[in-house]
Amino acid sequence: MPSMQTNVAPSFRKTTETFAAGAKGLSQHYFVSPEIFSEEQKKIFSRQWVLVGHQSQIAQAGDYLTAEVAGESLIIVRDKRGAIHGFYNVCRHRGSRLIENRSGQSAAIQCPYHAWTYALDGRLIGAPHMDEVLGFDKADYSLHAVNLSMWEGFIFVNLADSPAPLAEWFKPLAGKFSRWNLSTLRSAKRIEYDVRANWKLIFENYSECYHCGGVHPELSKISPYDSAENDLTEGPFLGGFMRIAKGKSLTMSGNACALAMEQFGEEDFRLVFYYSIFPNMLLSLHPDYVMVHQLFPQSPERTLIFCDWFFNPEAFKRNDFDPDDAVEFWDMVNRQDWHVCELSQQGISSRAYEPGPYSARESIPAAWDREYLRFMK
Ligand code: FES
Ligand SMILES: [Fe+2]
Repeated sequence: MPSMQTNVAPSFRKTTETFAAGAKGLSQHYFVSPEIFSEEQKKIFSRQWVLVGHQSQIAQAGDYLTAEVAGESLIIVRDKRGAIHGFYNVCRHRGSRLIENRSGQSAAIQCPYHAWTYALDGRLIGAPHMDEVLGFDKADYSLHAVNLSMWEGFIFVNLADSPAPLAEWFKPLAGKFSRWNLSTLRSAKRIEYDVRANWKLIFENYSECYHCGGVHPELSKISPYDSAENDLTEGPFLGGFMRIAKGKSLTMSGNACALAMEQFGEEDFRLVFYYSIFPNMLLSLHPDYVMVHQLFPQSPERTLIFCDWFFNPEAFKRNDFDPDDAVEFWDMVNRQDWHVCELSQQGISSRAYEPGPYSARESIPAAWDREYLRFMK
């Protein structure tokens, strides 16, 4: 295992080191306009790879989840051979929604309307009375597939006709997180948050700790707000690490809550890594767990957020496994964040709002805004 000195230090920069004056927040219409919102749905969420889950969340044949991306309902399902598929949640008969649940288990996908039945790989295998229709061939009516690809065990979908491969998109991050063995992780808990704030405010909030001293007193005690150093400072992947006080963990008790993700060296136990992955993933890598937020914009003023806490699969078997210690801690911090994001949304909606200057500790939100504007061109 490489030490932190060789692994991290050379490429990381203090957030305050290089920051040209002049960057300001986005103007009001980016946060309130229904036109901008639909433009985002078209230019970003209908074209980019969007995170919808992790393979461990549909571990068995027949396990499925549904996701809503750019107004489209999708079914993500594991078939009997173990392959994961993505389909539009639309019956090939008269278009009915097939699955209403957010997740579940089923041997096949049966339409609730006239009971057409699809295999887990999307083939139509049952269509009552359709043999009475001359020339009807079930082979012509498989479910419509959506582009689906995996990165480190995470499932991404893309609504574009022929998107660039996901592996290409993630090339700049190749090997970066291998120490966490992300593909093997298992989620112990999910919390859903319905936040009354624009999705971009969530990204901007995640990307700085300028607010941490005041908003997160508990977090700041364990992880000093001014300890941020970034190695990804431009582009669709942004972030870096913060320090954790010696012998501490980001949990309610302050103690590690699970078997470590890896045989980390002592220095590695003192770091927590935070990366935003455009356009809907926040990846927080702790020594003893990994937290992932998925963002689903609902309207200019509303964002649905799924937060999952993942652990080393070996940790589940041990007596010292206490996932709630981490979950409760970040649930508290999450809610502190959502509250200030909602306050931002309220203030930004005012006629008195005008974009204010970013501080030197907000270079990453400024970079995120630049990247966002590139996609909106
Ligand atoms: S709409 Fe699905 S079977 Fe008729
Ligand atoms: Fe925060």
